[in-house]
Amino acid sequence: MSIIISCVIAKGGAGKTTLAFALAMHWGAVGRRVLLIDCDPQGTLINLFAVREKKGSAEAICVDLSRLEARIKREAASDVYGVIIVDTPSTLREIGPAIKAADVVMMPSQPSGADFFAFKRTFNVCLKIGISIVVVPNRVKSRGQHEILQRTFKALSEGKALIAEPIGDRVDHGSYTIGELSIVDIGPSGKGAFEIAKLAQTLEEVVNGQGQGVESRTG
Ligand SMILES: Nc1ncnc2c1ncn2[C@@H]1O[C@H](COP(=O)(O)OP(=O)(O)O)[C@@H](O)[C@H]1O
Ligand SMILES: [Mg+2]
Repeated sequence: MSIIISCVIAKGGAGKTTLAFALAMHWGAVGRRVLLIDCDPQGTLINLFAVREKKGSAEAICVDLSRLEARIKREAASDVYGVIIVDTPSTLREIGPAIKAADVVMMPSQPSGADFFAFKRTFNVCLKIGISIVVVPNRVKSRGQHEILQRTFKALSEGKALIAEPIGDRVDHGSYTIGELSIVDIGPSGKGAFEIAKLAQTLEEVVNGQGQGVESRTG
């Protein structure tokens, strides 16, 4: 059965595309068939994927958000892909279909007031829809900052989201912008790849009902 993950937060630059790409490369590297669905008209994800030579077991397509639910139903029924990852634009009023179509939403959020504000707005929409939510503290620079972020997201989500282990602020995450690489290819045994593998595991556990702290699935 496919697991469906939507990357959402109503703020540009939070890390949706970066983490969607890195997760796809991780799952691809461990032999899962991955479908990346780019719903952002900006097309960053599809462009990144197009210049990548080593596509492995991943594929990428563009789908309009208005057609996403139907497409996902079709793909999930065909059972070709183990993992379907949906990347979305940063506008709240558009992303409802991506939230509804998913098993879990992944919300990357950075340490800034603007991110917290966007997080809260997006979180409220996800809660209303009744979906499992995994918050990913992204570009975290220190243990102290991580502790502050954990407290902040716990308060903002009123304990109704799972807060994943942090993703560090790593230059290698940006390398894909000038080539076809993800952090998983650059240093497969490095800390950055380990963080992505851990995030992938957390997302799978939540979808399979083993993740703790997620109370929002039933609204
Ligand atoms: N953990 C990270 N470490 C370093 N740079 C990052 C990290 N996450 C994202 N970035 C950089 O931040 C920028 C915006 O990220 P992106 O994934 O495009 O955000 P979004 O898709 O949410 O708009 C990109 O240039 C990306 O390389
Ligand atoms: Mg993006």
